[in-house]
Amino acid sequence: MKKYYIETYGCQMNVSDSELVSAILTNAGYSPADTIDEADILLFNTCSVRDHAEQRVLGRISNELHRKQKNKDFKIVLLGCMAQRIGKRLINENLGIDYAIGVDQYRDLPNILADDGGFSLEFNPSEVYDNLMPLHQGNYCAYVTIMRGCNNFCSYCIVPYVRGRERSRPYDDILKDIREAVTNGMHDITLLGQNVNSYKFKDQDFPALLKNIEHDVEGIYRLHFVTSHPKDLSEELISTMANSKIICRHIHLPLQSGDDDILKRMNRSYIYSQYLSRVQALRNAMPGIAITTDLIAGFPGETEQQFEATLAAMREIEFDYAFCFKYSQRDGTTAARYNDQIPEEIRLNRLQKMIDLQREITLKKYRSFIGKEVEIYVEDFSKKSKSKLSGKTRDFKIAVLSGSESQLGSIVRSKVVDATAGTLICD
Ligand code: 5AD
Ligand code: SF4
Repeated sequence: MKKYYIETYGCQMNVSDSELVSAILTNAGYSPADTIDEADILLFNTCSVRDHAEQRVLGRISNELHRKQKNKDFKIVLLGCMAQRIGKRLINENLGIDYAIGVDQYRDLPNILADDGGFSLEFNPSEVYDNLMPLHQGNYCAYVTIMRGCNNFCSYCIVPYVRGRERSRPYDDILKDIREAVTNGMHDITLLGQNVNSYKFKDQDFPALLKNIEHDVEGIYRLHFVTSHPKDLSEELISTMANSKIICRHIHLPLQSGDDDILKRMNRSYIYSQYLSRVQALRNAMPGIAITTDLIAGFPGETEQQFEATLAAMREIEFDYAFCFKYSQRDGTTAARYNDQIPEEIRLNRLQKMIDLQREITLKKYRSFIGKEVEIYVEDFSKKSKSKLSGKTRDFKIAVLSGSESQLGSIVRSKVVDATAGTLICD
């Protein structure tokens, strides 16, 4: 029986897609390898959002080519956004990649693998991978994709070009997936989509989906979702969150920039004051809610003053955490055609300033928990020591605590005794 091994890059959406691919391959008679050394087929599920992510995968592939000498049946498969974007070209360049399979063609994988090589990269706007239970990797937490694709066309972003238009997964199918996960001990469910607020299946929108899941499934301790677009964050969603017993007190709400002209050039469809009023509405409805964000440094044309506006926004809002990115020029996007690209050195310098500021803010936020009791959903042993456990608070902060194996997959109350800019240390 042939064995496969998948390496996943990029966002949680890719983690979820790799679980689908695992299901497709095991259903077709392949079995998962515990390590690369055992694998006959090595799959790379890739990300194209930034150039750096693509370069890393190319490096990884060249490091694994030696396996082809030992095992002449050893195959390398490119999946995900990078396959979609440049898979055909990479195969033609003879880099050792045998197959390139696009994001809507995973069902075709067993057929294609039956051939000696090739690609399948057509978009299929109706593909939502229904009637296919993903093979969840985690033991206590599950990602459940609810919608695919994106219609927003932010000017810097490659995603709409490589993942196609928005489409939502049928409710019954989502329900089946969540029920199975919960039955198997995964009480922490994260709903995934490029823009979950656009979920629409028949007459069911995203707030209705959340309410129905809470009503229809027993045994969910924690319900999260990513990612929300600020322009679609409705009052209805805020009140649904506030009234829920299981939805986490956390939202990931990408701001990208604190300057209105840059936001306009990014095609984000909101200005900073509108974003801020969403944050205030969330905080009024749910005091203490954690808000995390994505920010881009050095978008084309960004002046020093416009960059300062982003730093000022960070100080004003005090995000619990911010994923800070250096702008990366992606071929085919609108922003790649702007002729006022910012030099690398300035982008790097601004990125570092953002990271330093956020670190300070995160540390202050985390330290404010010292002495308080938090509720932790225990997910794993701590990476540093087997005698400690790790998990997340209801507002999505990583916590480490003392405890025993029997507490995995359950909620534990513990007091915070110390904190770093990323972890609450509990007793
Ligand atoms: N350059 C830098 N960051 C980007 N992102 C998306 N496209 C780019 C790009 N071209 C970031 C955005 C988005 C996150 C997933 O990745 O901040 O929210
Ligand atoms: Fe990209 Fe914008 Fe869509 Fe997010 S909402 S995937 S940043 S185009």
